Amino acid sequence: MRVTRLMVIVTTMGLLGLQAFAADEAVLRPRVPSDQIDQVRTWTNPLPATPDIIEKGKQLFHGKAFCVTCHGKDGRGLGKDIEPGTVRGPLPRDFTDPQWQAARTDGELLWVLKNGSKGTAMAPFVPLILTEEEAWQVVRYLRTFAEKHEDAL
Ligand code: HEC
Repeated sequence: MRVTRLMVIVTTMGLLGLQAFAADEAVLRPRVPSDQIDQVRTWTNPLPATPDIIEKGKQLFHGKAFCVTCHGKDGRGLGKDIEPGTVRGPLPRDFTDPQWQAARTDGELLWVLKNGSKGTAMAPFVPLILTEEEAWQVVRYLRTFAEKHEDAL
């Protein structure tokens, strides 16, 4: 009984710790350069958030675009290839972070898929691996991780 309670406390502390890390200013700082950001924020996702589009994005994330290897099945940014402390530079983004989700427009996410994030492991995927339309599908899927976070609470 006591052990269980201890485990709950340790787990809660761990989650709070992750939360604190997720809210890090370094994470929330825009990745789009300041001279482009106003324009990029006007880009809207041309595809609706229908189950069909989200499913297409999911297939790409777990399949040919291999996002899963770094961002993980649960989108928390600790994919099978990444262990905390073993990567240089910033960790892959935790897509379940509600503050991060709120801070970014769909346009900014698409920009990162086109340009990557300089100085990090996040490479450009459009047009070599994804078409622009596929990238918008993936963006729809990325947004569903926000809901998963709420489910987990
Ligand atoms: C090789 C590892 C790796 C792969 C594969 C990868 N990413 Fe990333 N991703 C990262 C890292 C590292 C960051 C954090 C970059 C930073 O902090 O600027 C990141 C950040 C991001 C961001 C957040 C940028 C922001 O504005 O905060 C998005 C969106 C993203 N990745 C989407 C994807 C998608 C979609 C795929 C698959 C098409 C993918 N990533 C594949 C490593 C990866």
